[in-house]
Amino acid sequence: SMKVGVLTGGGDCPGLNAVIRAVVRKGEQEYGCGFVGFKDGWRGAVDGRTVPLDIPAVRGILPRGGTILGSSRTNPFKTENGVRDIKENLAKYEVDALIAIGGEDTLGVAARLYEEYGIPCVGVPKTIDNDLSATDYTFGFDTAVGIATEAIDRLHTTAESHMRVLVVEVMGRHAGWIALHSGLAGGANVILIPEQRFDVDQVCAWVTSRFRASYAPIVVVAEGAMPKDGEMVLKDGTKDSFGHVRLSGVGEWLAKEIEERTGKEARTTVLGHIQRGGTPSAFDRWLATRFGLHAIEAVRDGDFGKMVALKGTDIVRVPIAEATSKLKTVDPALYREAGVFFG
Ligand code: F6P
Repeated sequence: SMKVGVLTGGGDCPGLNAVIRAVVRKGEQEYGCGFVGFKDGWRGAVDGRTVPLDIPAVRGILPRGGTILGSSRTNPFKTENGVRDIKENLAKYEVDALIAIGGEDTLGVAARLYEEYGIPCVGVPKTIDNDLSATDYTFGFDTAVGIATEAIDRLHTTAESHMRVLVVEVMGRHAGWIALHSGLAGGANVILIPEQRFDVDQVCAWVTSRFRASYAPIVVVAEGAMPKDGEMVLKDGTKDSFGHVRLSGVGEWLAKEIEERTGKEARTTVLGHIQRGGTPSAFDRWLATRFGLHAIEAVRDGDFGKMVALKGTDIVRVPIAEATSKLKTVDPALYREAGVFFG
């Protein structure tokens, strides 16, 4: 019978454990597969660090955030002898196929290992940012939106009590999905996304009009959002693991600008990793579980180089390369649609 390696790479995300559990439950029960877990993403596959993975090992993990396998952003193609070591370890542990659960980076490695070295990989997409183009949704996103929405609900009442501006900075990297969805769900008065540079004077006009109507404004700003005309001085020029300049600090910066230009008091809340921690929502558990069930089915079918994806309500298989070729960002029409609530 088949032995399947499983690993989780990149930033953690609520629902990873639900995928692992579904893979192992179906694989062991229905196909008689054995499993080995590689620790800390590609790092463990390179170093040969493993954990035992069977049905008892995955008991009770469905509602748990994070990943029992650990994660890292190691890229074997950027590690000395990385690919050679992976091939050796797959042989040593007698692994017939590999399920890689991850985002752009992790899946990009899986695609190359399959295409260039014939290593039988199946991918499962993961990111709270929802920015992978081959799938309608990724698990983790709904949980992040839920947490951000609850935060916005809470900020409304404190903003109203003091008649202040509350700026909420949410995650999403280079995509505005979390900002757009939580901003609509939470009834924000301004939503700013990376896909469209914002005009600080326009933001201040919306804020002022909200005060005129005797309400306190909530401004949701995606961490990747940028003002027009390069007004913002980046806190630091350091690059993240994708080689992009880190765009941290936009919320703090914007609150100060709003205070100066409108004379109203403003406060900032940066939600940060709270959006990624803790138990997954019911939707994310459902999606992650179905991804897991379909990933092990693809392994059983020998359908490698593929990734599972959600299309409508169906789980389909697409070439991994398709998922990593371009990011899915917020369509301008979708953003315009939300504009009726601004101000
Ligand atoms: O991709 C998920 C994400 O949480 C982004 O929304 C965010 O920009 C980034 O990861 C943060 O990365 P790290 O956890 O390495 O600080």
